[in-house]
Amino acid sequence: SDALTILGLESSCDDTGAAVVRGQPGKAQVLSSVVEGQTSLHAAFGGVVPEIAARAHAERLDDVVRQALSQAGLGLRDLDGIAVTAGPGLIGGVMSGVMCAKGIALGAGLPLIGVNHLAGHALTPRLTDGAVFPYLMLLVSGGHCQFLLVRGPDEYRRLGGTIDDAPGEAFDKTARLLALPQPGGPSVEAEARNGDAKRFRFPRPLLDREGCDMSFSGLKTAVLRMRDQVMEGNGLRQQDRADLCAGFQAAVVDVLAEKTRRALALYLAENPAQPMLAVAGGVAANKAIRAGLETVCADMHTAFTAPPLALCTDNGAMIAYAGLERFARGERDDMTLAARPRWPL
Ligand code: KG4
Ligand code: ZN
Repeated sequence: SDALTILGLESSCDDTGAAVVRGQPGKAQVLSSVVEGQTSLHAAFGGVVPEIAARAHAERLDDVVRQALSQAGLGLRDLDGIAVTAGPGLIGGVMSGVMCAKGIALGAGLPLIGVNHLAGHALTPRLTDGAVFPYLMLLVSGGHCQFLLVRGPDEYRRLGGTIDDAPGEAFDKTARLLALPQPGGPSVEAEARNGDAKRFRFPRPLLDREGCDMSFSGLKTAVLRMRDQVMEGNGLRQQDRADLCAGFQAAVVDVLAEKTRRALALYLAENPAQPMLAVAGGVAANKAIRAGLETVCADMHTAFTAPPLALCTDNGAMIAYAGLERFARGERDDMTLAARPRWPL
């Protein structure tokens, strides 16, 4: 009856996304979600090139929007509003998305809703699991790593996060050091399956320090050092590579699990009615990391949820849904909506 239909656009990093979501806060469904990655465009450069990303978003957004509408079987006139990532992210890409959304909003006479990309990730468990506030979110991707206590659609408390690299970045750099394919997460995880995690002694950064802050840049330095030690002998053999990956991954799992234990303690002190930890971000795909988090949650009588991977990584549906939550509360933007490279929750 009060169902809202929102189109969402995402273009803050290297994925061009558009999706249609319909429903109400805490009870909505994804009618369509189209994501076009740019991995191959950036592959030769060893990282996302902002100029290339911005151009690709600008070129692809129209078509991705068209596909999302057609897969949902809807036209612009069926929409109640259009939501778009207004930051944080690579400014050129965010601007492409905001301009595209403004054009559609103006042309079709639709309300415009600017969305914080991090709020998109943080609210995804409401879309996938109908999560009830307050819940704890661990956002772990190539660019982000933080614990968020999500108290309401616009009420977040950051309990801690990385003080240097994000874990995905550490996986990617480790893969590069060991000549494994990018993105590094999946290749390091695959290698680690055949490795002995105990052969190399990796540090557990910041575990001796109080609080929920984390550090991952030391781990990749450790990979470099140990790799060079091994190579001095007889080059890097298959087993060396697997053992390095296993040791590195075990260290990441230990750090994330122990810091999650602390973040959960802070969260549980607020006596949530239905305690829940949700993960989001590409690193949440890692099975060893998931298992580590599940163990901690079981210990602490907290439900654990990981949205389907397609909704964990960057996508338009999370933006459409976060926009729906804003719109349902009467919030919207006008043509002065600006793209913001930095925008803390
Ligand atoms: O969320 P995402 O798609 O993009 C952003 O960073 O925003 O996350 C990508 C990151 C990459 O660093 C990738 O190596 C990592 O997630 N990743 C993984 C796994 N799959 C992807 N890291 C560890 N294990 C995995 N299985
Ligand atoms: Zn993201």
